[in-house]
Amino acid sequence: MARIISIFNQKGGVGKTTSVVNIASALGKLGKKVLVVDIDPQGNATSGLGVDKNSHKTIYSLLLNSNFEDGYLKETSSKNVSLIPANSELAGTEVELVNLEDRELRLKNALEKFENDFDYILIDPPPSLGQLSINALVASDSIIIPIQAEYYALEGVSELVKTYNLVKDTLNKDLEIEGVLISMFDGRNNLALEVLEEVKKYFKSKVFKTSIPRNIRVAEAPSYGLSVIDYDENSKGAKAYMKIAKEIVRNNKR
Ligand SMILES: Nc1ncnc2c1ncn2[C@@H]1O[C@H](COP(=O)(O)OP(=O)(O)O)[C@@H](O)[C@H]1O
Ligand SMILES: [Mg+2]
Repeated sequence: MARIISIFNQKGGVGKTTSVVNIASALGKLGKKVLVVDIDPQGNATSGLGVDKNSHKTIYSLLLNSNFEDGYLKETSSKNVSLIPANSELAGTEVELVNLEDRELRLKNALEKFENDFDYILIDPPPSLGQLSINALVASDSIIIPIQAEYYALEGVSELVKTYNLVKDTLNKDLEIEGVLISMFDGRNNLALEVLEEVKKYFKSKVFKTSIPRNIRVAEAPSYGLSVIDYDENSKGAKAYMKIAKEIVRNNKR
């Protein structure tokens, strides 16, 4: 059975998609079978892993029609990594889901079909706290919280934790925090160091030992449809994401 992890932070631009793509790729390099599930209408994880956003059979039809036929799993540019794509079709889903009785369970039910074929399933939710994000939290065993080490980093974290606790108290009692990931870290910047200390005070041992440095190679890779590990495995960004994947494997013993 796969360990299902959502990369969760309702703030945009904090490194969610970058982390989904690169953690997936790094786990794949370690020999794990990984499925990335893109549930952001922007489809950045889809294009970032070299999959055509105009693909047939996206997460949209899987969620709305519970259409469990084959053809949803796409091959990506990264070894051992498969993907269920998303595109702008998904934008209306927030509204369409509201009318369904099992609206919070759609993703969980849809993923059951794939759970036995993968070691890890990573979900990339949109930057909001709507139905799609709730579906991600309900379907997951755990969340990784990416936090950008900047002035407003902790703003919104209490809201995030509130949502996490709400889901844990109601729809998914077993939901855990897999880890808190410092993204785009610049160790020469005193503010970034202060933020890191604040985050550690708040989340304690949940903070991953490895931080992801701000690294131009990480930002360049998606325009080639590659993870940073496939784009430049010797870059600082690639090495940091490999270390995070090893921490995840160690913590899960799988
Ligand atoms: N470690 C990093 N170094 C440099 N740029 C980064 C890094 N991580 C993310 N970025 C860039 O920051 C922007 C936002 O990241 P993204 O993963 O798309 O955030 P989100 O999915 O949370 O909106 C993107 O342009 C991405 O390329
Ligand atoms: Mg994103």
